Amino acid sequence: MFESANVDFADKPAGYAALESQLGALLNGERDFIANCANTAALLWLSLPDLNWAGFYRLVDGELVLGPFQGKPACVRIQLGKGVCGTAAATRQSVLVPDVRQFPGHIACDPDSRSEIVVPLIKDGRLLGVLDLDSPRLNRFEAADQAGLEMLAAVLVAAT
Ligand code: SME
Repeated sequence: MFESANVDFADKPAGYAALESQLGALLNGERDFIANCANTAALLWLSLPDLNWAGFYRLVDGELVLGPFQGKPACVRIQLGKGVCGTAAATRQSVLVPDVRQFPGHIACDPDSRSEIVVPLIKDGRLLGVLDLDSPRLNRFEAADQAGLEMLAAVLVAAT
């Protein structure tokens, strides 16, 4: 049974380090990518403050397809290069968006979203998909979040 340990994000690097060990324990012994994405989305949703969406898009036949998530129902398919998710997938770089209204081509799945971060998931040079977090707060994500989420994405990819 999963018992949520309270993570304090007043110190973000310490908070993400605590989440890294929780995620490692949660995914330990399981290689199914969808199951691992589902548990990762649930852990992030429970642990990180100020989110209105946390989840995954998988690369399927050359496009991003909605994967496990927490939050409101979302757009199902995103073309590479489109929106924040498609940009992160096409460039294979994390994309940090302090204000979604300033990001040309942002795809609004939930009108409450104000800021967003997307981290690509890459295994042995192959793009598996992206991790996407949305917040109703402007400037919710900063460099420390990007570093922490890239670390968590690496745990997920390594487990798969
Ligand atoms: N805003 C994203 C679309 C996915 S939702 O936020 C869940 C984008 O621009 O790619």
